[in-house]
Parts: sequence; C-alpha cells; structure tokens
Amino acid sequence: MEFKAPLLFVSALCLSALTSPQDSCGQRRLAATPGWSRIVGGREAPEGAWPWQVSIQIRSRHHCSGTIVSSLWVLTATHCFHKFLGISRRHFRVLAGLRVLSAPGGQTQVRSISAVKMHEDYDDVTSDNDVTLLLLSSPFNFTDHVQPACTPQNVTHEINLNFSHCFISGWGSTQYKGRLVNRLQEAEVELIDRRTCNLITWYDGFITENMICAGLESGAADSCQGDSGGPLQCYSEDEDRFYVVGVTSFGYECGLPLRPGVYARTSRFAGWLKTSQAASASAAHRAKLTLISGLLSAALLLL
Ligand SMILES: *[C@@H]1O[C@H](CO)[C@@H](O)[C@H](O)[C@H]1NC(C)=O
Ligand SMILES: *[C@@H]1O[C@H](CO)[C@@H](O)[C@H](O)[C@H]1NC(C)=O
Ligand SMILES: *[C@@H]1O[C@H](CO)[C@@H](O)[C@H](O)[C@H]1NC(C)=O
Repeated sequence: MEFKAPLLFVSALCLSALTSPQDSCGQRRLAATPGWSRIVGGREAPEGAWPWQVSIQIRSRHHCSGTIVSSLWVLTATHCFHKFLGISRRHFRVLAGLRVLSAPGGQTQVRSISAVKMHEDYDDVTSDNDVTLLLLSSPFNFTDHVQPACTPQNVTHEINLNFSHCFISGWGSTQYKGRLVNRLQEAEVELIDRRTCNLITWYDGFITENMICAGLESGAADSCQGDSGGPLQCYSEDEDRFYVVGVTSFGYECGLPLRPGVYARTSRFAGWLKTSQAASASAAHRAKLTLISGLLSAALLLL
C-alpha cells in the first residue's frame, strides 16, 4: 500500500502534461502589458516582447518568420516552403529568442526541422490555407525569451476573446522591395472585418473565410516582404495572454491605403493544428503513452 500515493502522483503528472498543453501560453514576463499609446508605422520591439516569434533561416539567412505553438511545433506559412522543397532540410534552421539577426545572443536557441507539414488544401493561386507546421528535431526550452503563443479554439472563441490590441512583428523590410531589417520590429494594427476587406476598392472579393485582414485604413502599419509566416498576435485583457490570430500571408505591396496585410486565420485551423500534431506524434510518444497507461493500471490495481 505504501506505493499507492507516489504512483498516482506520477500518473496524474503525466496525464496533466498530456491533456493541458496550453496551460501556459501567450505570456511575456519581460515586457509590460500593452498600453494605449499606439505605435504607428512600427518601432524596434523591446526585449522579450514576442517570445514566440522565430526566424526560419536557410543557410543562416533569414527566410521567413514563424510562431512557437508548443515546445516541438512552429506555425508558419505554406508559401515559405512549397517552392523551397528542393532545398535539403539540413540547410534550414529555426532560431528562437532572437532579436538582432546578425547577433544571436545567449538567449537564442537553434533547432533543425525534422518534418514539414503543409496544409493539404493550400492553393498557391488564391493563397487559401496558407499554413504549415514545422516539427522540430528537439524541443525548445521555455524561458523568459522563448515561450509558446496561445491559439484560438474556433472562430467563436476568437470573437469572444474580445481582443483589445493586436500587433505584427518581424524582420521584414520597412518598405516595398526594401531590405530586411536587423532588429525585430513591431507595429500595432487593427483587425479589419472581412466584408470591408472584400470591398471592391479594397481586395474585391479575394479574401476567403480562412483569411483575416489587419492593418490601418491609412496603410500606416503593415507587414512586408520577409515578415511572411510570422504572427499577427492579439492581447486578451480578460486572460492577460496573447493569441496568434493570424499567420502573415500576403498583401498588395506594403503599407498602401485600402490594402492591409492578409493573414491566414488561425481560428479556422484549430482542428487541422490538432490533428496534424497528433498524427505526427512519434513512436517515442506512443511508448510514453504505453508507459503511462501501464502506470495507471498499476495504480488502479493498488486501489
Ligand atoms: C534544456 O533544458 C534542460 C533542462 O534544464 C537542459 O538539460 C538542456 O541542456 C537544455 N537544452 C538546451 C539545448 O539548452
Ligand atoms: C469553441 O471553443 C470554445 C473554447 O474552447 C468552446 O467552449 C466551444 O465549445 C467551442 N465551440 C465549438 C462550436 O466548437
Ligand atoms: C470588450 O472589451 C471592451 C474594452 O476593450 C469592453 O468595453 C467591452 O465591454 C468588452 N466586451 C465584452 C463582451 O466583454
């Protein structure tokens, strides 16, 4: 009988690790909660402001951004990969905890990619379903500089979160056809409803249900080349957390009035995110599950 308590304790620990992967997400310990001073046109991001933002690099050059959604998975855009599959995976790296591209610091963690899971229904003409998951070769260690973002469970959940502030971040150029910037930039944007974004003077019906527009009507804040795959992240005051609401997908040039940035709408992909991650769960995970059920039955036997 003496073994009963410790065994149950172990089982409970393992189960909670499996069933609530999103317990801790979307929190940044180094940066303050968003205030009311709007950042128009972008500025350098403070340290630790976007701990889920990663740089995906090919041969040590920034290629696209991505968002950490769990210790082993990074969410990015399909258009960052589908034309680059000819490049051997060993040339790709994912860098987290990075602020200055040319100077990764002691907080930076580097991983290679062990699988690329592109959305099956990605359409490279319309950019519909522009989401891809990257499975890392080994998990990120969560620190003040490296954290996962939360993901909305469905469209209703996204709407009910009643976001007060949304931001874009990246190393993309600050002007159309410009060069990458060395230091991570951030800008505050507003979500733009699909009906407005589809108006004939805006994107004229091009925006599908799987997309969300964000920017400022004036065009004063926008994502640009090099920001692809990165997060559109929104702050929930009720939960004091950030959610990745969009994945930077496309825009007509950059920062033009009536041509806001277009993002893959993550709340439309919650099911896909879940099944894709589950389907790729490795044999190691299965072994762990077997071990847990073994422990559970051992614990039950003792009851
Ligand atoms: C991650 O954290 C573990 C435990 O703190 C440590 O043993 C390991 O070396 C860390 N890995 C890296 C790559 O920093
Ligand atoms: C949407 O997500 C919320 C929060 O997880 C959940 O309570 C609700 O049942 C979901 N609704 C649907 C239609 O799946
Ligand atoms: C949404 O947030 C605003 C403040 O940002 C608040 O005034 C409003 O009552 C909130 N609505 C709901 C339904 O919580």
